[in-house]
Amino acid sequence: MDFIPVCEPTLIGNELKYVEDAVKTSWISSNGKYVQAFETEFAKYCGVKYAVGVCNGTVALHLALICLGIGKGDEVIIPNFTMIATAFAVCYTGAIPVFVEGDEKTWNIDVEIIEEKITKKTKAIIPVHIFGLPCEMDKINTVAKKYNLKLIEDAAEAHGAVYQGKKTGSLSDISAFSFYANKNITTGEGGMVLTDSTELYEKALYYKNLCFDPKSPRNYSHNHIGFNYRMSNLHAAIGLAQTERADEYKTLRIKNGKLYRGYLKDVAGITFQVEPENIENVYWMNGITVDKEYGKSRDKLIAFLKKNGIDSRVFFAGMNKQKSLKDYGADCTGHYPVSEYLNNHGFYLPSGSNLKEEQIRYICDKIIEFKTK
Ligand SMILES: Cc1ncc(COP(=O)(O)O)c(C=O)c1O
Repeated sequence: MDFIPVCEPTLIGNELKYVEDAVKTSWISSNGKYVQAFETEFAKYCGVKYAVGVCNGTVALHLALICLGIGKGDEVIIPNFTMIATAFAVCYTGAIPVFVEGDEKTWNIDVEIIEEKITKKTKAIIPVHIFGLPCEMDKINTVAKKYNLKLIEDAAEAHGAVYQGKKTGSLSDISAFSFYANKNITTGEGGMVLTDSTELYEKALYYKNLCFDPKSPRNYSHNHIGFNYRMSNLHAAIGLAQTERADEYKTLRIKNGKLYRGYLKDVAGITFQVEPENIENVYWMNGITVDKEYGKSRDKLIAFLKKNGIDSRVFFAGMNKQKSLKDYGADCTGHYPVSEYLNNHGFYLPSGSNLKEEQIRYICDKIIEFKTK
């Protein structure tokens, strides 16, 4: 069996054709038909009115926070178990990220304890759909309404996932996606901000483009501090081609996710994220924890898989463990046993949509073989 990487992009559609067209017609910066076409198609795919393409998922989150007016003196609730970009985006605004422990079954933010972290300074909550599994948005929405907080979905890992019949990215005031190369839909580097609000949409267009005056850009008169977060037409060309096949890629990801769960279901000590009812997981990454009953450590299993040509990645470290955030002024005290456990026992298996069933079978056989060695 050839080496199996953690994730490779699947680029089997019109990617090259559209990029070639962009190059041949010289539209390679952020003007050009593909940016708008990608925004329109991705918004439609997610069931949201407006989309604004940007250059990565981290700045998509930052832009979303800026549009909501989050800044110095504010607090923003985020999950403790997430990728660092969620926290850094909050820091860019001058606000303080406040951490809420993950749920031990779903690994998403523990909705039952969000309220404990709300103070007079809290302005927003950023739920993150970890590894493609939607958060319990109804409960989060109830808390947000009760305390008059804004909701920003970090949907960087959850393209096309569904919660109670609605796509992720459409379940909050404003949402952010990443199109990094390992994402279910990719542009290489890229991101998108989505919203149903005309006001937030116009703000996103304005702030992402250096706050040029939309009515007379050639005045070079800038009334606010803006950002150059524009997406290029080249990246958007890839994104449009990817979106055309979004359902196909999602189906492949779901098929693979279910194969892993099927093959490993009777292996004591191997645990997957628990999937609540009424959601559709898109299995961006197939994460597992290696528990005591497996009989071998996570790190030994990773090394064994590596020796057999199978790549993997350990889970994120908790936000409370980040020196950068502590130095910035976030409260990193307190105990986060779920995040700690996930960080020490969790890793993800190869998860690209181009994986073949025989590769998944081989990976699972190796996991089973090592347990009994
Ligand atoms: C949960 C989460 N948020 C934000 C990001 C940032 O996206 P990007 O890498 O495109 O900046 C990522 C990236 O993988 C992510 O996993």
